[in-house]
Amino acid sequence: MKKIGMGLVGPGFVAGHHIDAVRRLGDVDVVAIAGSSQQSAEKKAREYKVDRAYGDYKALIADPDIQVIHNTTPNHLHLPVTLAVLQAGKHVISDKPLALNAEEGRKLRDAAVAAKVAHVVTFNYRGNPLVQQARGMVARGETGPLSFVRGYYLQDWMSDPNVYSWRSDPAKGGATSALGDIGSHWCDLAEHVAGAKIVSVLADLATVIPVRYSSGASAEAFVGTSGGNRQPMQVNAEDLASVLLRFDNGARGCFSVGQVLPGHKNDLELEVNGRALSLKWRQEEQNELWIGRRDQPNLNLAKDPSLVCRDVLPYVHLPGGHQESWADAFRNLLRDAYQWIREDGRPEAKPAPLPTFEDGYRSTCLVETMLRSHAAGGRWEQVQQ
Ligand SMILES: NC(=O)c1ccc[n+]([C@@H]2O[C@H](COP(=O)([O-])OP(=O)(O)OC[C@H]3O[C@@H](n4cnc5c(N)ncnc54)[C@H](O)[C@@H]3O)[C@@H](O)[C@H]2O)c1
Repeated sequence: MKKIGMGLVGPGFVAGHHIDAVRRLGDVDVVAIAGSSQQSAEKKAREYKVDRAYGDYKALIADPDIQVIHNTTPNHLHLPVTLAVLQAGKHVISDKPLALNAEEGRKLRDAAVAAKVAHVVTFNYRGNPLVQQARGMVARGETGPLSFVRGYYLQDWMSDPNVYSWRSDPAKGGATSALGDIGSHWCDLAEHVAGAKIVSVLADLATVIPVRYSSGASAEAFVGTSGGNRQPMQVNAEDLASVLLRFDNGARGCFSVGQVLPGHKNDLELEVNGRALSLKWRQEEQNELWIGRRDQPNLNLAKDPSLVCRDVLPYVHLPGGHQESWADAFRNLLRDAYQWIREDGRPEAKPAPLPTFEDGYRSTCLVETMLRSHAAGGRWEQVQQ
């Protein structure tokens, strides 16, 4: 089988996981990476054991050995890099959020559809086997009609005021921080599992740490900080938010996000309550799905190929009791992406769970509606798309 040539732009924190995941697929060749300079690209290429390094992403896009480009740059570079990939007619995998705002998101969605290539956004929690199990149980009516969808996505890595990265800079991260960064994951997951769309929102945002201290270095996510000559930087984007939700199937919901909540590492939880059953999944205990029942004892369903539904089996790689992880779910998502790429991105060949630029654009609309709701003093706002 001829290997597919892959190139990556933006070799920071999440890039290593993209490279690791595609290498595990076996039929993808990591041809080159592009960084913010020739020097940084070469350093990262040595680290990741990639042969070619480019100091300019346009040169990587032009490389004839590359058919698919992964964009893992900071958010403000998602539009120019992804647009250039699409203009070159190559397949593209963008990390989330698709773009800085809904206007940019729409531009990218339209360009991707016009280019007739595979276009994927890494809402990677969809790749978890028990997420697919929950989605199937809702879709088959096992939960009964949903009345409530709730949860949170809480982290603590920004609790330290000495953490200042492009995420806090509105020119690079966008007008939002927690909602765009992790709220986008939660909303995508909630809609994916519930099989329903959020139609209106009421949001309350807060900036718990309004002044951060920057060393001037472009800090990578989740890296600890110490020392250095630091300058105070004003931060306006939210690091905490709570949102009430209404869904198009009549369900109500709510979720909170925060990046300044000590002790919460990557604490994502989603619960859906139907008239017959409730289901709850927590990222930090991702090998279990809680099934809540009124008239029988509650259950914890283990991730076990002998216990999950048949259509979930491609997402499970180990027997029960062998823990699978964030990286395995990420790989599942990229496996589906490359399956679509092998089909040349034909719309009818897209694996059903795979998130596209349509989903990425929708996510930018949702976040923008939440910002609008908060700015209006906490008013219900309809999602426009
Ligand atoms: N799917 C997930 O769960 C997940 C997790 C983390 C980050 N992300 C997303 O991935 C993206 C990157 O986040 P990160 O945490 O890896 O950030 P990061 O700051 O660690 O990495 C960004 C990299 O891009 C490089 N870069 C900057 N300008 C560039 C240019 N002009 N050309 C090429 N490279 C350039 C930087 O030097 C850095 O190495 C963001 O959009 C973020 O939201 C997604």
